[in-house]
Amino acid sequence: MPEILAVYPGSFDPMTNGHLDVIERGCRLFGRLIVAVLTNIEKEPLFTVRERVEMLSAVTGEMKNVSVDTFSGLLVDYARYKRAPVILRGVRAFSDFEYELQMALMNRKLAPTVETVFLMPQEEYSYLSSRLVREIFKLGGSVKGLVPPIVEEKLLEKVLPRVS
Ligand code: PNS
Repeated sequence: MPEILAVYPGSFDPMTNGHLDVIERGCRLFGRLIVAVLTNIEKEPLFTVRERVEMLSAVTGEMKNVSVDTFSGLLVDYARYKRAPVILRGVRAFSDFEYELQMALMNRKLAPTVETVFLMPQEEYSYLSSRLVREIFKLGGSVKGLVPPIVEEKLLEKVLPRVS
C-alpha cells in the first residue's frame, strides 16, 4: 500500500488532549501527517498562530511522521498543494456529525479526489473542545488533564507573566 499523506486541519486554539489523541491515531494509520493550523480565524483567538504552532510542534516532536504547518484560504486548495489525498478530522459525538458531514461533502464537491477520513478520539475526550478549554481558563478553572502540560503552562503564563 502506498504511503498516504493526510492533512489534519483545525484552529487548535488551543490544542487539547482530544486533538493529540487524533494525531496519535492518525500517525499510526498514515505514512505522513501534516497538522495544519488555520491562520485566518475570524474571531479573536486566545493564542497567536505562532504560539499554536509552537505548542503543536513541541507535543508532536517525537512523532517522526508528523509535521506542523499553517494554511489560509480553502482547505482543499491546501490539500491539493501538498498533494495530500486525505483530510483527517476527529468526530467526538453525534453533535459534531452534522457540521463535519456538511464540511466533508462540500470539500468533496470542491475537490472530488480528496477524501475526508474521520477518527473517533478516546471516549474520555468526547466532551472536550478548545472552546470549553478557553472558557474554563478565562473563568479561572483548572484545565489539568484536558490539554497537554505545555498548553497548561502557556495558559498559566497568560495570567502569570514571568518575572525575569
Ligand atoms: O478546528 P476547527 O475550527 O473546527 O477547524 C475548522 C477548519 C479549519 C477545518 C475549517 O474551518 C476549514 O477548513 N477552514 C478553511 C476554509 C475552507 O476551506 N472552508 C470551506 C470548508 S467546506
